[in-house]
Amino acid sequence: MNSFIYDIPTKVYFGENQLSHLGPELSRFGKRVLLTYGGGSIKKIGLYDKVTAEIKAAGLQLFELDGIAPNPHIDSVRKGAEICKREKIDVLLAVGGGSTLDATKFMAAGACVDFDPWKFLSEWAPIEKALPVVTILTLAATGSEMDCGGVISNPKTQDKIGRMEFPMLPKVSFLDPVNTYTVNPYQTACGAADMMSHIMEVYFNMDQDLQMLDGIMEVLMKTIIRYAPVAMEQPDNYEARANLMWASSWAINGFVNGGKRQAWSCHPMEHELSAIYDITHGLGLAILTPRWMKYTLDETTASKFYQFGVNVFGIDASQPHMEAAKKSIELLGDFFFRTLGLKSSLHEIGIDDKNFEIMAKKACNGGTLPGFKPLNQQDIENIFKMCLSSFNG
Ligand code: NZQ
Ligand code: ZN
Repeated sequence: MNSFIYDIPTKVYFGENQLSHLGPELSRFGKRVLLTYGGGSIKKIGLYDKVTAEIKAAGLQLFELDGIAPNPHIDSVRKGAEICKREKIDVLLAVGGGSTLDATKFMAAGACVDFDPWKFLSEWAPIEKALPVVTILTLAATGSEMDCGGVISNPKTQDKIGRMEFPMLPKVSFLDPVNTYTVNPYQTACGAADMMSHIMEVYFNMDQDLQMLDGIMEVLMKTIIRYAPVAMEQPDNYEARANLMWASSWAINGFVNGGKRQAWSCHPMEHELSAIYDITHGLGLAILTPRWMKYTLDETTASKFYQFGVNVFGIDASQPHMEAAKKSIELLGDFFFRTLGLKSSLHEIGIDDKNFEIMAKKACNGGTLPGFKPLNQQDIENIFKMCLSSFNG
């Protein structure tokens, strides 16, 4: 078993009526607050008024940056970093989904350097410090509220690049499931697919040495499978929204990794799809994951798929491993494409094979993705091709 460090110091206020803590928490970091948000959903749901009232009541000075797009652009990060420097911001408050939170983390880091923040992604410039970030999450999906990562797009270069660095970890996150009641069924479904993928990227690993974490991941996946359809049907079902929200945080906050060091596979492939076609991240993952599973299933990996099928989908444990493995992939496809109603092929969302070669090259940096099964450029291209037609189990 590999050794590992466990250190997740984000303070979480979970549940309803916690916003009275916002002013005091922000005040710990100073007086000047930059509030960041997306295209306006926080105004429609009345959260903007509540947040700004708390900030004013605490005697803090408010600055704002809005318009952060899904698959957030480096230009928003640049703008935010500039405001931080110009206005001597003490703390950033990100209110929204993963895109707003991710962009804000890089603004916080960009505020502490005198070069273009795109260099954090294009050249891996060091991220040694960042201004403090506080978040109020409005969409359960990415886990950005409790991890130190972010993914930023550069439409000019058609790159979408992610990075995790400890200084960008949110200091405090407010997770009120009520704030996700207005997330539409499509985004709810995409969020569920994203969370499933975060867990599966770690779970599909042939190290058999940390069974307690496998068990926790199986419960997290069962939670998502149980509650995502409920939240789609009944958007204001508190129990469903709460279970999804807390599962989203724990799927990727580092806890389930333990000492597992294997690289992720579906995320690097998906980031190439959303970089070029600006599709929703969770949709891309839903389309890719069952194909990636089919591609990586063989005699050496079947036992893991068997474990997944039996413990997550409750399939008959007496079947041969390979049969159960195939059934488990079929059931995951059913969940994504029938239960959640997501489109099952790239063709259906208007994507053809034109860019597959360059996307595959970028996904593995021209080498090999050292994941569950190592994938070279040709393997990745093959997986993209499998995504062109509808999923048939
Ligand atoms: O922009 P607004 O108006 O806020 O609308 C958003 C956006 O249109 C809307 N929305 C959010 N909360 C809502 C709401 N609509 C109604 N009611 C609410 N309560 O939903 C749309 C999508 O929002 P976005 O933030 O883009 O979604 P998500 O949270 O799925 O974030 C996706 C981004 O996160 C990255 C993805 O690659 C993508 O760029 N990821 C970040 C990760 C991380 N930080 O660790 C890991 C993930 O794997 C992922 O790559
Ligand atoms: Zn993801």
